[in-house]
Amino acid sequence: MKKTILTGDRPTGPLHLGHYVGSLQNRVKLQNDYKQYVLIADAQALTDYYENPDHVRKNVEQVALDYLAVGLDPKVSTFFIQSQVPELFELTFYFMNLVTVARLERNPTLKDEIRQKNMKDSIPAGFFTYPVSQAADILAFNADLVPVGEDQNPMIEQTNEIARRFNHLYKTDLFKEVKAMVGETGRLTGIDGKAKMSKSLGNAIYLGDSAADLKKKVNAMYTDPNHLKVEDPGTVEGHVVFTFLDVFDPNKEEVEALKAHYRRGGLGDGVLKKRLLEILEGTLAPMRTRREEYSKDMAYVREILRSGTEEARQVAAKTLSDVKKAMGIVY
Ligand code: TRP
Repeated sequence: MKKTILTGDRPTGPLHLGHYVGSLQNRVKLQNDYKQYVLIADAQALTDYYENPDHVRKNVEQVALDYLAVGLDPKVSTFFIQSQVPELFELTFYFMNLVTVARLERNPTLKDEIRQKNMKDSIPAGFFTYPVSQAADILAFNADLVPVGEDQNPMIEQTNEIARRFNHLYKTDLFKEVKAMVGETGRLTGIDGKAKMSKSLGNAIYLGDSAADLKKKVNAMYTDPNHLKVEDPGTVEGHVVFTFLDVFDPNKEEVEALKAHYRRGGLGDGVLKKRLLEILEGTLAPMRTRREEYSKDMAYVREILRSGTEEARQVAAKTLSDVKKAMGIVY
């Protein structure tokens, strides 16, 4: 019996290289060794975008195309749309009893988002409780592993707390411990050198970027502002091109040699950017090709989502039935 992966993303915009190194790469690597379910978390996205459901709706198919573009194989991985699996929301309601408001307030990811979005005293209850819904996503599939970005670790912790509490309270061993899996790189910086690549900061390289856009973005990367002439000695720390070479260049020795050269002086940013561009183009080009292929047949993409959702629904329904039995909600 294969172990299970449950993972997913909010369809709030196109996926970028941060998603790729954070989790997509792991998902592609593991898809044959695990039974993998990949959820497009449109309902969770709505906890933030409820005033603009159209935006979320439009992005569902785009995220599916991102998945296909990076090489997730729809014959092996099961893609599904969260909102179309109502069992998840039933589970959420029962799990809600197992979490305190104080505990949710302490969830670091939630805390950050509330601060960033300036929600203060007007936090929608739906948004506040989305970590419980995320626990339901994961526990509905009794997942062993959740490949996600680093910012999702607190969600996995909270999921395990709910699982343990459920097992203890209702004297069952229905749920097991789930593990997060974060890409080696951790968090990828944006092209502006800010701590995080993100759509809202406008510093992202998208998986669907054209060759021309990619070139523009690599050329715009933050370097060493004091490195004015090629002969000047430069600083490697915080130099975004080097940060990216560290992540994407397979030849670590050459990267170290380039760093030494840059520090000494005599190495221009143009050379580094050209090298990085080639590497990133090598990563994005096959994605672009796959995206184009699948885009020609959107009926097939929709069919992948439809059949995946049907399959996912059966699994979630079985768990819901087990949960109700454990709680004695059977009439
Ligand atoms: N919170 C995740 C994100 O922001 C999306 C998500 C929803 C998810 N449910 C999940 C991720 C379950 C992993 C497992 O992208």
